[in-house]
Amino acid sequence: MTRTADPYDLLVIGSGAAGLSVALGVLANNPKARVAVLSKTDLSEGSTKYAQGGIAAVLDAADSTESHIADTLNAGAGICVEPAVRAVVEGAPEAIRWLIECGVLFDHEGGDLHLTREGGHSHRRIVHSADATGKAVELALEARIRASGADLFEHHNAVDLIREKLPQGRQGRCAGAYALDRRDGRVHRFAARNVVLATGGASRVYLYSSNPDGSTGDGIAMAWRAGCRVANMEFSQFHPTCLYHPKAKSFLVTEAVRGEGGLLLRPDGTRFMDEYDPRGELAPRDIVARAIDDVMKRLGCECVYLDISHKPADFVKAHFPTVYAEALKFGIDMTREPLPVVPAAHYTCGGVLTDLAGRTDVDNLYAVGEVAFTGLHGANRMASNSLLECLVLGAAAARDITTKIGTITSIPEIAPWDETWVTDSDEEVVVAHNWDELRRFMWDYVGIVRSTKRLERARHRVKLLKDEIDEYYGSFRVTSDLLELRNLSMVADLIIRSALGRRESRGLHFTIDFPTLDSIAPPQNTILVPKNFSIRRVD
Ligand code: FAD
Ligand code: SIN
Repeated sequence: MTRTADPYDLLVIGSGAAGLSVALGVLANNPKARVAVLSKTDLSEGSTKYAQGGIAAVLDAADSTESHIADTLNAGAGICVEPAVRAVVEGAPEAIRWLIECGVLFDHEGGDLHLTREGGHSHRRIVHSADATGKAVELALEARIRASGADLFEHHNAVDLIREKLPQGRQGRCAGAYALDRRDGRVHRFAARNVVLATGGASRVYLYSSNPDGSTGDGIAMAWRAGCRVANMEFSQFHPTCLYHPKAKSFLVTEAVRGEGGLLLRPDGTRFMDEYDPRGELAPRDIVARAIDDVMKRLGCECVYLDISHKPADFVKAHFPTVYAEALKFGIDMTREPLPVVPAAHYTCGGVLTDLAGRTDVDNLYAVGEVAFTGLHGANRMASNSLLECLVLGAAAARDITTKIGTITSIPEIAPWDETWVTDSDEEVVVAHNWDELRRFMWDYVGIVRSTKRLERARHRVKLLKDEIDEYYGSFRVTSDLLELRNLSMVADLIIRSALGRRESRGLHFTIDFPTLDSIAPPQNTILVPKNFSIRRVD
């Protein structure tokens, strides 16, 4: 497969629900398009594969589009971009239809799709494949893309985007990307007429996270370096319930357990959610995560408990086979006893600013999925709206890109990756040390409950780390660990700056120094502008 000879019509960086929706959409509209898809490790690896609960869609006559919109706006705490909410919610039934056409097997009951319930949703509207919905989606899309004729580059870690060089040092359209082949350690050029960032979120910036290792915010950092604005980075979502066991590495217990009647308990067996919100266990997850954090801090306990053992064992096993099997590995039988749970970083609500076709500030550069900020989630994403966003806006981006294929005839010459000034590192320990330090201070100082003093501490730390990492990056050959660390430190900086800028508590951002909503100033999204920002494409 050539990486540099003929430019691709489309280079998709990322092979989760977002990336594969765009790639498959473009190929469906134009089977002759030259499409390449990059993934950091195996094609199927990414958050999509681990999604449990499902995909929100209004499919029941008793439910309504307006209700799904209202719930999303409500969870988003006043700063969702309403047209984005409407576009995504209205696109849901078609997205589910497309997935079924792609071969995804969803659970049924009495001939209809079974709809489960999750926090913040006022109706049953979550389409699911038991408690392993993401796996069903990812494997079906993977099978399609493997059969599609697209060039697939697994174990390729995109390093940076390439922009056309214009006179007087200005930068033009996006013309491709450099990527490290993790297997031979070399950096290759990918020339492309359209580039899509679909690299997922950045939750691995925190010590404890439900996300797989690759969620290191690469796309957000690459877009920022390339001159794109990013928005709402202060809104890091913490999932309330991850399995708490020394050996259970970041395993999520789906919110659908609470949707189907699971109760949160203190270690002494008493319920507490009703003391925090009238919706109890089904309050939006920012409220549930903060309540759990509060209970743990007050009681000094290491976890709380999630109990669904009052339901028939067959019901629990049928609805939650993945959670049941995983917990059993650690000797916990959820049909008989409560599960020990703690919150963990789960979802990045902010990201690269785009319009509703995925277009960023840089011409020919798109961002879709968790990497993007469309305004759908506001200050707090509602459960099961994320896969939906990947699918609906992936299809929208594909439509936009399709209209351009054949219209961009040439792209500029791309210089090869220059390694003349670097050597092999003899200090790998610096990378490992800084990874640990960064993720720990982000957890301790920029976590579920924040304060200005802790944020200032984190800002100071991240500046030192960034300087050290930049110096290291300038001296040594790149490795994937180094690339991820460089990106994480940049994303951490963006999160801290955004958090310091928000002088109120709203949705997922809670600070003890400004514990209430700012009711005087009109509610705003936080938009950060990079130094090299030049073209205002997105309004
Ligand atoms: P991902 O699926 O994360 O894919 C990212 C892709 O980018 C991967 O292919 C990766 O290899 C690639 N990549 C990253 N960086 C680079 C790079 N530098 N170079 C090359 N490739 C790169 N949402 C829901 O709506 N419903 C749910 O039930 C649900 N459950 C969840 C459960 C868990 C445990 C987790 C972690 C998340 C869950 N979410 C859920 C959130 C949802 O899964 C994600 O937001 C969504 O899958 C993101 O899809 P994506 O395509 O944007 O990114
Ligand atoms: C879950 O199943 O609890 C995760 C749902 C989501 O993150 O949307």
